[in-house]
Amino acid sequence: MQFNRRNFLRSATVLAALSLKEVDLFAAAQQAKTGGAPVAHDDEAYWANVRQLFPLTKDLIYLNNGTFGPSPYPVIDVTRASMMDADQMGNYGAYDKTPPKIAKFVGANDDEIALTHNVTEGINIACWGLPLKKGDEVILTTHEHVGNAVPWLNRQKLHGIVIKRFTPGATADETLERISSLITNKTRAIACPHIPCTAGQVLPVKEICALARSKNIYSVIDGAHGPGMLMLDLHDIGCDTYATCSHKWMLGPKGTGFLYVRKDFQDTLQTYNIGAGGDDGWDMLTNPPAIKAYAPSAHRYYGGTQANGLYAGVNAAIDFMESIGMQNIHNRIKSLGKYTQDRLLEFGEKIELLTPTEERSRCAVNSFRIKGVDYQDFYKKCADQKIRIRSVPENGLNCSRISTHIYNNKQEIDQMIDVLKKAV
Ligand SMILES: Cc1ncc(COP(=O)(O)O)c(C=O)c1O
Repeated sequence: MQFNRRNFLRSATVLAALSLKEVDLFAAAQQAKTGGAPVAHDDEAYWANVRQLFPLTKDLIYLNNGTFGPSPYPVIDVTRASMMDADQMGNYGAYDKTPPKIAKFVGANDDEIALTHNVTEGINIACWGLPLKKGDEVILTTHEHVGNAVPWLNRQKLHGIVIKRFTPGATADETLERISSLITNKTRAIACPHIPCTAGQVLPVKEICALARSKNIYSVIDGAHGPGMLMLDLHDIGCDTYATCSHKWMLGPKGTGFLYVRKDFQDTLQTYNIGAGGDDGWDMLTNPPAIKAYAPSAHRYYGGTQANGLYAGVNAAIDFMESIGMQNIHNRIKSLGKYTQDRLLEFGEKIELLTPTEERSRCAVNSFRIKGVDYQDFYKKCADQKIRIRSVPENGLNCSRISTHIYNNKQEIDQMIDVLKKAV
């Protein structure tokens, strides 16, 4: 559903959370809609209109999109309307428009998208589906989120696979060299993030997947931060699987995600998580009772009742992004990330920037340590000023993370920098 007056007026009435007059909200929606035509990344008046479309409180500076992407009104409104439709009319099952819509958004085919509830679920489906045996090696990073660490550690515990680790480099080439040096004749999978949650490095996944393929190694990517931040083309990346969500950079309803499984990989990736829609015929009355075949699509990896409202919200999130233009969104996000990085670099020796400065290896996320200042103390100082950042205790990295989306602006980053100036 696109921006329109009826949606916005309904949002305004139902949510009763507007600090703006309804007419302002409608005007902002009209002005934000570009249909993909170019908008300058620094056209602050344009992006201020976009900001008005988010109910995200103005009492807080939210610099933590990497954890949770707040939805704009059009997404919330469509979600609610679809839930009402289900509960008023008993309509259910209308989620089948979502996989094709997602597929188009991320450069995949309709039959390559399995719906999930979050990134973790997609990673588990991919991790459990790989035919691995004791002693097989899988390559991960030292920068994992728990969601991409624990499923593999569990297979290590239960099945005796061996986990090898690399630390992402400051450049794409360095990262590729580190991965290459870990490959042995026992390596079966590279299971790394596209963008780690820790320092937001954009890893060279296309080259990583090409390397994997050249050595008959599976490439199973944790893509938590890909869609909605990058111009994503999964066929071009060439991965076997890509697990992600719609609730971070896509700004969709929380508890929605999807797993891409390349069509010609679907007979290799075994299905464990199956139910209604996942089969191509089953019979409990034959001898023996049997599944006749799996669905000829990624539907074989999920089944059962789905949340209509949430998936209508995912469709609306994609419409919202396309109304602005994904290229415009990417450019704005990347320029705010660069602005943050430049401001951090002004501190010289006092700040250790953990995110690469290499153009292709950075985007919306920046992480840093402050010399002599505990990262938790900085988190509290920001919180005192009503600025929400993220602390990164993962894997002993002990740093601070700033992640910004299209609802942010330079003034908000400057306010975080002011807190930093007092902290150093
Ligand atoms: C890199 C990475 N992988 C996996 C996850 C897990 O995501 P979810 O909570 O949607 O399962 C996150 C969440 O922040 C993440 O940043």
